[in-house]
Order: sequence, then C-alpha cells, then structure tokens
Amino acid sequence: MSRKFPEDFLWGAATAAYQIEGAWDEDGKGQSIWDTFSHTPGKITRGDTGDIACDHYHRYKEDIALMKELGFKAYRFSVSWPRILPAGWGEVNRKGITFYRNLVTELKKNGIEPVLTMYHWDLPQEIQNAGGWLNRRIIDWFAGYAEVLFKNLGDLVNYWITINEPNVVSHCGFQEGWHAPGVRDQATALQVYHHVHLAHGQAVKVFRKLCPEGKIGIAPNFRCLLPGDNCQMSEKEIALAREKDTFLNSDHLFFGRYPDPVLEDWRRLKVMPLIADGDMELISQPIDFIGVNHYFVGFLGDKPADLKKVDWGEHYYPAALREVLVQLKERYNNPEILITENGMPVIDEQTSDDGRVRDQLRVDYYRDYITALYEAIDRGVNVKGYLLWSLMDNFEWGKGYSYRFGIVRVDYKTQQRIIKNSGYFYQQVITANSI
Ligand code: FCB
Repeated sequence: MSRKFPEDFLWGAATAAYQIEGAWDEDGKGQSIWDTFSHTPGKITRGDTGDIACDHYHRYKEDIALMKELGFKAYRFSVSWPRILPAGWGEVNRKGITFYRNLVTELKKNGIEPVLTMYHWDLPQEIQNAGGWLNRRIIDWFAGYAEVLFKNLGDLVNYWITINEPNVVSHCGFQEGWHAPGVRDQATALQVYHHVHLAHGQAVKVFRKLCPEGKIGIAPNFRCLLPGDNCQMSEKEIALAREKDTFLNSDHLFFGRYPDPVLEDWRRLKVMPLIADGDMELISQPIDFIGVNHYFVGFLGDKPADLKKVDWGEHYYPAALREVLVQLKERYNNPEILITENGMPVIDEQTSDDGRVRDQLRVDYYRDYITALYEAIDRGVNVKGYLLWSLMDNFEWGKGYSYRFGIVRVDYKTQQRIIKNSGYFYQQVITANSI
C-alpha cells in the first residue's frame, strides 16, 4: 500500500547552533552558558565541548549541498544568541547577522525552506551573570534579541520558533542540573519554566508587529503517556496523569492556564512560581503552529512485553507519536503542527570496512515512525512537516559526541560527512512523498 503525504509536505531535519557550529569564539561571538558548562571539568561525557563540533560555521555550504542531495524541503536550525548580541543585549555583532543571512540565502537558493529557532539553549553568559532565566527582566532581554532577529532576518525567513523545549530548559537545566547552567532546585526550575514561557509570549507580540506575514510557534518536548499492560487506572485517572505531565500538557499555551491539579501540587510542595497579573494572557498569545519534539514514551502500569530498545532506553514505540498527535488535535482544536524533532541515538556507531554506515535500526525506526505519522495525518491531524533529529551527528549536550543521532555521519577528526543508510532511506521517502 502506498501512503502518500500531503503536497508541499515539509520534509527535512533539525539541528541547533551549539551542537553543530563550532567557532565558539570567532568573529565576535560572545560566550554562552554552554561554553562555560562544557569547559567545566566533569560536566560532559569524556570532557567533550562544542568548540569545534561539526565546524558547520565554516562548512555550511557543504552541509546545505548534502541537504539538497537528500531532497530536503525544509531545514530547522537555531541562531546563537551570543553570536548576534555578544553581551545578550546592546551592541549587535554584524558578523553574526551576516553568517545567518548567508546561511538562509544559501538554503533558499537550493529550494529549502528555513525554519529558524531563536533559542536552543545557548544563553549569553552575561545574561546568566545577571540572573538569566530566573530574572524576570529576561522577558525584555529576549524581546530585544527577538527584535534584532526579526529586523535582520524577517525578510528572508517565514517559519519561526521562539523556544526549543521550555520544559527541558527548566527540568534539565534547573531541576536535574545536568544541562547548563546546572542548577538543582525545583522551585527555581518552575519559576524558570514560567519565565521562559513569558519570554516566548513577548516575542510573539513583537513578531506580530514586525513580521505580520510570517508564522511563529514554539517547540515543547512532548512525550506520550499510555496505559501499559495491566493498567488498573480509570479513564479519568489516566487523563489526570496526562494533565499533570509538563512533558505533555500545553494548556498554558492554548488556554492561558496551568491545570488546577498542577497548581495544587505546586502549592502543596511549596514550589509555586510567582505569577503576575496578565502573565497567562501573555503566555497564551495565539501562535500559528505548535512544534512537536518527540522521543519518549511512558507507561501507566506495566511496560508492554514487546517493547523495543534503543541506546537511551525503551523508547522505540512508534504508536506513541501517533497518539500524542491525536491527543494534541483533540485537546487543542486541531492546531497546525510541525514535527520539529524525532530520532534516536546510537552510542559509538561504527562505519563498515567499505565506508558505509549500516544503521539498520535507525532505518527501521524512521520507517515505523513515519508510518505512525501517516496514520495520524490520516486521522485528521493537521501536520505540515517532519523535521527529524538530526541532519548529522553532533554534540549531544551532556553526552558529548558519544551519542550519534545523524542520518549523516560526521568523522570528528577529519570533518568528513558520510550519508548513512538511514539518510538514503529518508531520501527515498522524500522523493516518493510516501511511505
Ligand atoms: C532534544 C534537543 C535536541 C537534541 C535531541 C536529541 O531534547 O532539543 O537538541 O539534543 O534532544
């Protein structure tokens, strides 16, 4: 059976500045919290840093040629805030602007739609020194940065994403502390969660004035919670568990409120963030699409016996993508959706003697997940595109280079790129526009 995707479906992949660019102190770039964090001994597996990463800053043309070869219709990348504003505010670094204008121009020359993420975790260190996400003034700092981006790239870019995974920014950076800036405190994490969303809302407001033609959204990390084997919970209890899950529930974005059971928990645990008058209205500014980053599945009750594993655990469960999409459609009145990330790591993936990368598990994974995506679209979910994670192997945050997510292999010694079998598989899907 041939399963055709909608015409003009945006097939492509995603990356993020700190994970691929390198050139960490070149051409006037300021430091980010990830420069600081990765240079702190003991924070990253094997002491890896993003100093050079995939050297994409110098090789972007070569990388866009690869995207073209793979047939991409769209490409999601992020802008490094300290490359544009070295101190976070104030003086603009023209060389930073030039880099992203060149990148976007090259993409468009090759018929690839740019999808720009404004914040994918590399906060300027100077802003961190002033309190970072915990300081409410970040609403204005982020809006100032947003304004610079809209004025300097708004003529070239149609698709904008304010924040990558606000829930991960808060959870991994401020509750578990294994991401920069490495704080471990739940109350802090929740205040940050609230501020990140306020900054998002303020940026959307600025966008409406400066880029009335463009589209803007946000990309939370959505996992899926499913009843497992022997799940004894009632429908109501399952709904409650989903409502309480910040990796699932987006009522604040769509309805302008945190769910009552969530507020009750925050009150009980004495971790309630300060929420000022008007905040929830700002957070729920209408957006044009919701980005969906999807990797994880959780089970209420026992895990199904046949659960397949990938290198970061039992998260090979394609139905989870379909279900999370259907839930978003039902709860939020069928919003426009862009899949902004989906993928799986292989630890220490090897090249065969003949130079090929036979990543069969990843081929299977994408076949199964893209099939699940098709099923969701078939059930009326309004998905406009699929941007897998990731174009190429890159710096995987706390795990450094030990986790490889790419459909293109990067040899970090020579910076040679090799299209993996999964890349060739994806190329076929794109060419046929079907699975
Ligand atoms: C997501 C991040 C992305 C990448 C993938 C594997 O949470 O947004 O940068 O690291 O995980």
